[in-house]
Amino acid sequence: MKKWLMEILVCPSCLPREAPLKLDASESEENDILQGRLECPNCQMQYPIRNGTAFILSYPFELPYPGSKYETPTVVSSYLWSHFSDLLGDPQGTSAYIDWSELMHSSPGFCLDTGCAVGRFTFEMASKFDFAVGIDNSAVFIRTAREIMIKRQKEVELALEGVLTQKMLLALPGEWPTENVEFIVADAQALPFASKSFSSLASLNMVDKLPNPLKHLEETVRLARRDKAQFLLSDPFSWSEQSAEQKDWLGGKPEGDFAGYGLDNITAWLRVGRENPGPGWNIEKQGHVWWKIRTHRNHYELIRSCFVKAFR
Ligand SMILES: C[S@@+](CC[C@H](N)C(=O)[O-])C[C@H]1O[C@@H](n2cnc3c(N)ncnc32)[C@H](O)[C@@H]1O
Repeated sequence: MKKWLMEILVCPSCLPREAPLKLDASESEENDILQGRLECPNCQMQYPIRNGTAFILSYPFELPYPGSKYETPTVVSSYLWSHFSDLLGDPQGTSAYIDWSELMHSSPGFCLDTGCAVGRFTFEMASKFDFAVGIDNSAVFIRTAREIMIKRQKEVELALEGVLTQKMLLALPGEWPTENVEFIVADAQALPFASKSFSSLASLNMVDKLPNPLKHLEETVRLARRDKAQFLLSDPFSWSEQSAEQKDWLGGKPEGDFAGYGLDNITAWLRVGRENPGPGWNIEKQGHVWWKIRTHRNHYELIRSCFVKAFR
């Protein structure tokens, strides 16, 4: 974990109180902490840093993260294709991450990519902001993203048919910065960062995957500066009882709180100023991005991810 992250880290177990974490490093390499732990002086919780990866979750965890469907090699391979198909030269790929990236305006400060998976959007943000941070609660995704960050390349094994696979080399373009990029294991509903520490934030294709989508929104917006801030949320709004109880969905139901469409409801929610997340947001743009996930060479999932881009 890069040392520059220390200045904005707080204990996720103490939220809403923001207790800065103390670093106890047992092995470092220049600005990178390889082994050690982060300690909360307030609640005494300890968060390990193992082989460079920080695990800053408010609940006990094991490796791999129990119950996550994102921890299998097959899913990692699918996401590597989804994020980097253009760099792999695959004409079946989409320009989804470039489309989302173009919605973000370059500015000083930190950018956060919540639920970053294997990191493409975070890498895109590194050339637009001083620092780009990706968080995900999948340890396998975060380790994969960190491997690409460190080595700037990765051998990707893509499914072809049955047990047939094809190995390809993914290489980051030389001009992409990585020294200002970091990935950590964290929960998008209890983000381990101080309020107002980010000038830009994104939540791509994850709000419908969480047990408490509203908490994720509140947490993400808590981190945004009160002015000169931008926020991008994009999602297919595939609400499901497997992720959250229907009463907690932010759309996709006929009555009750958040009845109607998720994009409309989240847009309306963003407009309203609140004491803690701060002033309301102005809506810059709404639209959609076509996004694809690949299972094997003859099977893709095509997703219409609807976005709202806001600023304040
Ligand atoms: C559908 S994927 C989208 C990934 C990425 N944002 C993208 O658009 O390509 C959902 C992501 O959310 C992550 N995720 C699910 N629950 C999470 C949580 N509670 N905290 C952080 N990440 C979570 C998953 O591990 C996965 O990477």
